[in-house]
Amino acid sequence: MEKKLKVLSYKTCTPSELPETDKSLVELAKEASEKSYAPYSNFKVGCAVLLEDRSIYAGSNQENASSPCGTCAERTTLYYANAEHPESAIKRMVIVAQRDGKFTDYPVSPCGLCRQAMLESENRYNRRIHLTLYGEKECLIFGTTKSLLPFQFDAQDLLSNDEDSEE
Ligand code: THU
Repeated sequence: MEKKLKVLSYKTCTPSELPETDKSLVELAKEASEKSYAPYSNFKVGCAVLLEDRSIYAGSNQENASSPCGTCAERTTLYYANAEHPESAIKRMVIVAQRDGKFTDYPVSPCGLCRQAMLESENRYNRRIHLTLYGEKECLIFGTTKSLLPFQFDAQDLLSNDEDSEE
């Protein structure tokens, strides 16, 4: 039986068309990307988040000579914000990237690990994260990070679902 899944719903716009909140987050994410530690890839990523309590956090990727030890900008920022404000959900997130010192024209997609971390945050607070992937020429806007992670693994999978799958 062939089944189809409609998961990816997003909008595109130019940087100047972004809502003002996102424009401010883009500036903070850009500043954060300057603080990235990326001597191995020279790929500097910046992320900024707005929380429900209106606090704002920004972070960058942090690399390591032992590469799996490093972490992406998105997880640096998410965990930083969650550690400081565990009661407050993340409302908005913006991601920017510099390739060899220049902000990318088109957005960079968050890696699978970061998508999983965003999913956990949405589930933890039962609140969607409005995600903007920034590019100098085009931005992509997602109403929920779940659009980026079909067939996601979440807490439900830790429970037995054998009966459901037999239905
Ligand atoms: N990187 C991020 O910070 N976010 C992503 O979503 C993709 C990749 C970082 C990890 C590593 O420091 C560099 O970009 C190259 O992979």
